[in-house]
Amino acid sequence: MRLFFAVDLPGPVRDALASAQRRLRERTGDGVRWTRPDTLHLTLKFLGDAGGVDGAARVLDAAAAGLPRGRPIELAAEGLGSFGGRRPRVVWAGLTGPGLERLGAVAAHLDAALTPLGFPGDGRGFHPHVTLGRARDRGRRRGRGQSGGDLAAALREVTLEPQPFEAHQLVLYSSSYGEARGAVRYEAVGRLSLLAPGFEPPPAR
Ligand code: 2AM
Repeated sequence: MRLFFAVDLPGPVRDALASAQRRLRERTGDGVRWTRPDTLHLTLKFLGDAGGVDGAARVLDAAAAGLPRGRPIELAAEGLGSFGGRRPRVVWAGLTGPGLERLGAVAAHLDAALTPLGFPGDGRGFHPHVTLGRARDRGRRRGRGQSGGDLAAALREVTLEPQPFEAHQLVLYSSSYGEARGAVRYEAVGRLSLLAPGFEPPPAR
């Protein structure tokens, strides 16, 4: 079972990100494979293969012990950028807000708690982002005129105003590939509250 911990994004934030995706797509043609808006999320820790259901249960138990809890974590999706330097590979929305430090503490806790189970950090540090799309290899090989030049230009032209939201819980997702080529399926296999006793549970959405 391929697992990762993430924070879900509320509908209005996903709508704003989908709008940014559309505006970028108008400028990049088919050079980028865009994340489906209903699956947009903020990854805190990628584990990879963790065995079956037992693996997920062990991961949840280890992550729950000592998880820093408190008030809702105040964040905003804001700004667009890319990984990959001059040949953008991953297009993302950035994260800002007063809760960033706590979010980093949660990510650090997950690394520390899950290292003994065989899931160490990747050593690259925590760079919170929401992946909006990935450059298609074909586009990258062609360079300018496809995802390379067009994407860099599009990222200068399209803006994303701050989209505030609160994180209340961590979701452990399993990811698998569906029947359609390239279609990823995420299924929530566990949840951990980030709230300390006394803070209201999140309203249903
Ligand atoms: P990304 O958003 O930066 O691509 C599910 O694949 C989630 O786990 C994605 O959000 C992805 O992050 C993250 N992830 C982190 N490291 C990964 C890896 N080595 N392989 C696949 N996904 C990874």
